[in-house]
Amino acid sequence: MSGELVTVFGGSGFIGKAVVQHLAKAGYRVRVAVRHPNNALHVKPLGDLGQVQISQANLRNRSSVEAAVFGADYVINLVGILYESGAQTFDKVHHKGAELIAKVSADASVKKFIHLSAIGADLESTSKYARSKAAGEVSILKAYPKATIVRPSIVFGPDDLFFNKFAGLAKLFRVMPVICGKTKMQPVYVGDVAAAIGSIIGRLDTQGKTYELGGPKVFTFRALLEMVNSVTELNATMISIPIHLAYFQAFFFGMFPNPMVTIDQLKLLEHDNVVGSGKTFSDLGITPTPTEAIVPNYLMHYKPSGQFKGAN
Ligand SMILES: NC(=O)c1ccc[n+]([C@@H]2O[C@H](COP(=O)([O-])OP(=O)(O)OC[C@H]3O[C@@H](n4cnc5c(N)ncnc54)[C@H](OP(=O)(O)O)[C@@H]3O)[C@@H](O)[C@H]2O)c1
Repeated sequence: MSGELVTVFGGSGFIGKAVVQHLAKAGYRVRVAVRHPNNALHVKPLGDLGQVQISQANLRNRSSVEAAVFGADYVINLVGILYESGAQTFDKVHHKGAELIAKVSADASVKKFIHLSAIGADLESTSKYARSKAAGEVSILKAYPKATIVRPSIVFGPDDLFFNKFAGLAKLFRVMPVICGKTKMQPVYVGDVAAAIGSIIGRLDTQGKTYELGGPKVFTFRALLEMVNSVTELNATMISIPIHLAYFQAFFFGMFPNPMVTIDQLKLLEHDNVVGSGKTFSDLGITPTPTEAIVPNYLMHYKPSGQFKGAN
């Protein structure tokens, strides 16, 4: 048990829960910093009694960020959004908010700052999400040059928004929309992302480096949808949707809260999402878990007959 304190911004989210659990198991004290502490109570049992605390913080409010970082040995930023809503814009969250945490962490002399970005982060991208992620990386490295940037491909696990979304669609409508079916993806297990972050905290040679994380296998988007169809036994009809029609539909979806798909997400979907030639899991001594080994376990409840078909 190191007893050192790690502040995890966004620790109540999908990746956050896995990271908090991993750090607690490794003996760190964890402070989860989120806007809505009441919605984050599920993180408390991820550690021993009192090991995981919750702190109210909003990346758009400097004093709350300072309070969350106060006394921390390490800071991890896992805050991100998939679409813009009200004051939660890509620029405010991925760029200015991330920069603020880096500046506050530098002023507080924290030992290490780790930031979750995404494969495809690019200042020249047509996607606002990808541009804001890249702008965040640039500003972070200016404020805290030794920061470690982690860029995952699509992250999967029991609560993911990727496989569950398509399995849910298939179960409800018995159809599976295929947009940009040839786009390549390298899904990475959430437990492996958490292990990578745990490894980065413990190693000095990770300072100032960027790691791209993907699973052991590259799939096309269509192949991933076929996997969903196969493991759920839903036999949904795969319908190819031309990209211009998808943009038209996304325009209308984008008008609703919690949109199923946005124009910006389609722009991302037009590009491959795979690990480049830089640093990755092998540099951290981690062997990533195959997608096929995990996904069937948590999609089984989408089966028409439920998860117990064939059980005695
Ligand atoms: N999931 C993926 O497949 C994937 C792939 C590549 C990269 N990433 C990146 O990985 C990071 C984590 O993703 P995730 O899927 O775990 O996200 P998530 O489940 O949506 O969690 C987001 C977290 O951020 C907090 N948050 C949101 N706005 C905030 C704000 N203004 N101030 C403070 N906290 C705020 C949320 O809690 P409150 O709402 O209570 O504040 C929540 O704890 C993101 O940066 C994302 O872009 C994810």
